[in-house]
Amino acid sequence: MADTPRDQWKSKLGFILAASGSAIGLGNIVFFAANAYKFGAGAFYVPYLVALFLLGIPVMIMELGIGHRTQRAYPEAMYQLGGIKGEWIGWFGLLNASVITMYYITILGWVLGMWIGAFGSLWESQAVPAFGLPEGALSNSMSYFFGMISKYETVAYVVIVWIMNAVIVWSGTKSIERAVKIFVPVMWLFMIILIFRGITLPDGPQGILLLFTPDFEVMKDFEVWQGAFSQIFFTLSLGFGIMATYASYLPKKSDQTSNALTISFMNCAFEYIAGLAVFAVLFAFAIVPRASTLSMTFFVLPEGIGSFPVGVQLFGVMFFTLLLTAGLTSSVSLVEALGAGVIDKFGMDRKKVVLIVSAIGTVGSVMFALPMVIDPSLDGNGTLGLTLLDFFDHWAFSYGLLICGLLECLLIGWVLGPEKLRESINPHSRIKLGPLFDWMIKLVIPAVILVILGFSIASEMSKGGLYGSTVETGTMQNLHVLVLAGWLVFTILGSMALTAAGGFRRNGSSQGGSDA
Ligand code: ALA
Repeated sequence: MADTPRDQWKSKLGFILAASGSAIGLGNIVFFAANAYKFGAGAFYVPYLVALFLLGIPVMIMELGIGHRTQRAYPEAMYQLGGIKGEWIGWFGLLNASVITMYYITILGWVLGMWIGAFGSLWESQAVPAFGLPEGALSNSMSYFFGMISKYETVAYVVIVWIMNAVIVWSGTKSIERAVKIFVPVMWLFMIILIFRGITLPDGPQGILLLFTPDFEVMKDFEVWQGAFSQIFFTLSLGFGIMATYASYLPKKSDQTSNALTISFMNCAFEYIAGLAVFAVLFAFAIVPRASTLSMTFFVLPEGIGSFPVGVQLFGVMFFTLLLTAGLTSSVSLVEALGAGVIDKFGMDRKKVVLIVSAIGTVGSVMFALPMVIDPSLDGNGTLGLTLLDFFDHWAFSYGLLICGLLECLLIGWVLGPEKLRESINPHSRIKLGPLFDWMIKLVIPAVILVILGFSIASEMSKGGLYGSTVETGTMQNLHVLVLAGWLVFTILGSMALTAAGGFRRNGSSQGGSDA
């Protein structure tokens, strides 16, 4: 409600740890390396940096500015800045983010399962009965992973991760701040230890060299640019409503340009050193990386760690603790953004909202985990569970985040006017934003996003329809159409329903977002 005293971060450090913890997640540790490998290692750096400066930093400033100016969670903040249209965009962003939250937490449940395995059985050779494969047919980590996700215990892991999230967001900024003060330093420390382990392996430094050898030929390929631009949104936690929500808990006198730069550079620095560690470990043991994030996380990297001459268990536990802490600080920001949206709109009690969001979220995450348990065989098109996750990821990640970013820029650019946002950011910031910022938000960023989205659709069409349907046949194609329809109905109609539900407007919230 508009006149309820707002929760605030206890310190600037608490906010920076929470926001950088949100940005640094599973995406940083394996996604960057997987993408870099897919696009020719060193070739990825240049588009990635261009994406960071052209899109990442300005959108980060804008999202922080939205929350800072209005001191409200995302949908209400967007309503104050752009009316009903703004609120609809806010809910669209949050509902799309909720799809990502659900499968993100399923993946974290699997990470928890791997973490437990890292104390012992993950490193032993075993059969995969569900696939009809004997012992030794798959690498140890691969057989452990597929064995683990094919059993009902995997559902318990997913539920445990949801409980952890609920506990961390239970008391809002207070409990989030307590958690990130432990998790974020742990994750930096373990990452630094792993990079030292990587570069001190024989041949490890050569892997790093590979990452620093640019291949300018590959840069002519539009897909490299498309990969970099969608990666930058996900890795910086943009297009989720998270940064606006976290900034809404900041005092009015806080400096949003330096916050945006600190969060973005911390995130990218982490991503770079993670890339170095991954390439060093894989090169040292001549293991071929994979373009898929899930395979990099669950079998390729563990295979590298399993080849260490000493300390396999120690480094394995460290690696999965790193993934768990990094993933949790991201998932709690997603849960908080959703919860805060509901709290601000309907004036509901935080604890009740946390319970409702967690209960619905748990059902969603279990739905992503269950297909692998019910039908783990490789019949038909293979792992239905992973396919379902892939399909939702395709729409919510590759399209949803960019669409939310595009709509946000159009609203701030053409309805509110970016100069208004600058007027509330500049008085408290050391680095002042000039009219260039306005043109970035109004024209440059929307144009870049439109080109990327247009190219993505054209490239899917050229492959014969939805998501490379040349390789999808029968049931898989039908499933994909169903997923697309479900995603569209959920995000578009869901956000219309939530916008229509009244809520904070009844509670006296006004448009315009005061600067006071
Ligand atoms: N930014 C978070 C990540 O990279 C969501 O995993």
